[in-house]
Amino acid sequence: MASEFDRPVDRKNTSSLKWEKYGDPDILPMWVADTDFLSPPAIQEALQERISHGIFGYTNTPDELTRLVIDRMERLYQWHIEQDWLVWLPGLVCGLNLACRATGQPGDRVLTPSPVYPPFMSAPHLAGQQVVTLPLKNSNGHNSLDLEALEAAITADSKLLLFCNPHNPGGTVYRREELEQLAALVLKHDLYVCSDEIHCDLILEQGLAHQPLAALGPEIGARCITLMAPSKTFNIAGLGCSFAIIQDRQLRKQFNNQRKGIVPDVNLLGYTAAIGAYRDGDEWNRQQIDYLRQNRDYLIREINQIPGLKLEKVEATYLAWIDVSGAKLENPARFFEQAGVGLSPGRDFGDDRFMRLNFGCRFELVEEAVRRIRRALLNQLPA
Ligand SMILES: Cc1ncc(COP(=O)(O)O)c(C=O)c1O
Repeated sequence: MASEFDRPVDRKNTSSLKWEKYGDPDILPMWVADTDFLSPPAIQEALQERISHGIFGYTNTPDELTRLVIDRMERLYQWHIEQDWLVWLPGLVCGLNLACRATGQPGDRVLTPSPVYPPFMSAPHLAGQQVVTLPLKNSNGHNSLDLEALEAAITADSKLLLFCNPHNPGGTVYRREELEQLAALVLKHDLYVCSDEIHCDLILEQGLAHQPLAALGPEIGARCITLMAPSKTFNIAGLGCSFAIIQDRQLRKQFNNQRKGIVPDVNLLGYTAAIGAYRDGDEWNRQQIDYLRQNRDYLIREINQIPGLKLEKVEATYLAWIDVSGAKLENPARFFEQAGVGLSPGRDFGDDRFMRLNFGCRFELVEEAVRRIRRALLNQLPA
């Protein structure tokens, strides 16, 4: 039976970053992380109602949204947060950059697992800091932290770990035990952690659940800046509404000091959409997750049958991290574009053996992408 997620929506001529990247209409854009799904009706209705008011002046954070986030943390993670701990931000990348500046000086070292979403590597550089990347290790198809390597990399001038959970790329959902070990290490070495949990509502693997690092306990909570947003889950990234949860008053002060006069407040439509998402979006998201899981299962089955390609389980996110090294391509990004599929180059994430495919779209497009990829790779095999 067709689902609402199968419905084609034309995104051309909407200034969509994703759909306008390629001048060529024959390239399926499967790169940047937004989906092609309509936002849930609750969000569209909340926005329409707000727009019909007709006045769009400076805006406070709506109390209803603060309440919704506090309740959500309690309900989903038994994490009791206070209103003061919330810092609203126009984007998570902005939060990563503020975290570097709030916790260290130019010259300090920032640690981050790798491969990773590119701003994890650029944020330290933009703050005049050094970035130390620590390769994730693959154990039984699950990418996990190499805690020994992490500990070995910690020096006196290492102040911050930029952490991504669920991990982008690859979709690892870190297990509670791993997080507890990480927390122990962080406390032992007095590190701060900026934990980017933007994909926390997109866990596809049944039986797994998100665990915020900071929610493990007040001690680790005091070392954490947690970043979250409804943007990936509800396809409202263009509305710029995210938040940091910072338990420690001094750390929060340092973070806020960095933003003063530079980082704008969240705009009122971003707040409005976030209210719609967190008040009424959960059932819609359950359906979205079922749909994404089918896309994922199909991709894993099909991609692994194509000579030269390998795809491990994607536990969370709608981003498949495909090992293309077996295909021995000179320029993988160009090769797949010429095949009619626009992917994100693994090089940008720190591993050029991979390409990232965004499957947050109609199943029909996923099937078509697989067809094109298969055809192109089979054609270039020696006869
Ligand atoms: C891990 C991660 N953090 C942050 C972002 C972007 O956040 P924002 O658009 O709010 O700056 C993305 C987008 O793909 C992401 O995957």
